[in-house]
Amino acid sequence: MAETGQDNVIVTEAKRNPVTQPCTLVIFGGSGDLARRKLVPAVYNLLLDGVLPKNYAVVGVGRQKMSDPEFHSTLREGIEKHSRQALADEKWQEFSQRLFYLSGEIDDANTYQELKARLEKIEERLKLPGNRIFYLAIPPTFIASTSQGLHRAGLVQSPNKPVPFSRVIIEKPIGRDLASAQEINATLSKVFDESQIFRIDHYLGKETVQNLLVLRFANGIFEPLWNHKYIDNVQITVSEEEGVGTRATYYEEAGALRDMVQNHILQLLCLVAMEPPWSLDPDVVRNARLEVLRSLRPITGKEVNTFTVRAQYSPAIIKGVEVPGYRREPGVRPDSTTETFVALKVFIDNWRWAGVPFYLRTGKRLPRRTTEIAVQLKHIPQILFNADPSAPLEPNVLALRIQPEEGFSLRIISKLPGSKVQIHPVNMDFQYGTAYGTASPEAYERLLLDVMAGDATLFMRRDAVEAAWQWVTGILEGWQKHGTKWLPEYSAGSWGPVEADRMIEEDGSRWRTPQ
Ligand code: BG6
Repeated sequence: MAETGQDNVIVTEAKRNPVTQPCTLVIFGGSGDLARRKLVPAVYNLLLDGVLPKNYAVVGVGRQKMSDPEFHSTLREGIEKHSRQALADEKWQEFSQRLFYLSGEIDDANTYQELKARLEKIEERLKLPGNRIFYLAIPPTFIASTSQGLHRAGLVQSPNKPVPFSRVIIEKPIGRDLASAQEINATLSKVFDESQIFRIDHYLGKETVQNLLVLRFANGIFEPLWNHKYIDNVQITVSEEEGVGTRATYYEEAGALRDMVQNHILQLLCLVAMEPPWSLDPDVVRNARLEVLRSLRPITGKEVNTFTVRAQYSPAIIKGVEVPGYRREPGVRPDSTTETFVALKVFIDNWRWAGVPFYLRTGKRLPRRTTEIAVQLKHIPQILFNADPSAPLEPNVLALRIQPEEGFSLRIISKLPGSKVQIHPVNMDFQYGTAYGTASPEAYERLLLDVMAGDATLFMRRDAVEAAWQWVTGILEGWQKHGTKWLPEYSAGSWGPVEADRMIEEDGSRWRTPQ
């Protein structure tokens, strides 16, 4: 326990801070966007925060031909543009000494032999113990050849020896349906033990997502209400202002359901709906999340038309600028039926959540970028202040803002000051930024640190990935067999199609506009 000087706030360490060991991070896809914009800036911030192991190295492996100094200059630029904390020259000098690059094709066996020789040299020079983390920031079709390449070159240590360790991080998408996800997992399991595999879902690394468990299980006020007796519905909105941008090739094959729901939104749902785990042990927490996925009521066959809405954005003028419709975006087929928006009505068939609808929605080209979980309590009885059926009182809502301006608010009904009895809703608002005065670390910072410490709590286990795909595959098949040929449209910059409004309005509710 520690006490912060200023205001006597007691800070309790729920579990020991991650204990990291000296290691080498090998990034496949080292010349790519993710490495430059997210991964290397994350490592740099860990260094600035003093939590990176003292001894470390980062090795990028990529197709592009580049020398170490060229690699450094792209990474420097990446840090200047995307780092949470500003680039400091002195620190950069120290950091860049530990960044290396190897060019090679990932489906060529020689690359792995060269990598081995290079790693041994670097590790000898820096006196690193040979602990290695392989980050596969590459398309899923290369996962098999990369893991085989690592194995054949003798780069993967047995999971039974704690040192030196080998760990592998897998980026999404892990497959495009249940069968392909199972195939990827089977391939990986031939080379790595499940305890060595860290499947990343960057939403789980977001500060406010981690706070969900603290909010639920470190406070007495919420848990008694957190069930079908008191909660009317839960809404999860993940909206993006941007369109598909330059990612049409990937997105055309994915669509909003695969891109955002199968992973990020279902993980948010798991954290909101899970039972209290009996400990913070990684597998205990992951088991509790898995139970939610297993309790999702399937949506299959014609039910997709009742419980799901998918749509595409159409052209619009936003803030005076003409924005093309999805089918006019570069790289998108003019007759594309890929959804850029999806809304779902979901039920969790367990005792706690019996009959409570969870409304999920996500889309590109919505009015703004925001992620919000809104837990709406049931309406109060129609007596006393709520006696007038023509003007029912708004129900209480606990809204958790995941991003931006992380925080939460509780809507309660209050009396306006004055001699008349006039009541209206007010929001009790809490913002991390102003309360703690510091910007939250980026998701990748937390997640990389956890892999260095071998803590898998915030990563997806094989069974969870497959359970999520099983549920999503039912919807995909339903759409294919029973969906409409043309998707409904929504104007770019709006909150989605009228069909999504109708779906929720049929239940007497309406979508909340995230604050
Ligand atoms: C990625 C999706 O996983 O998440 C993108 O592939 C999406 O399409 C992104 O834009 C959103 O992440 P964030 O952290 O910006 O909300």
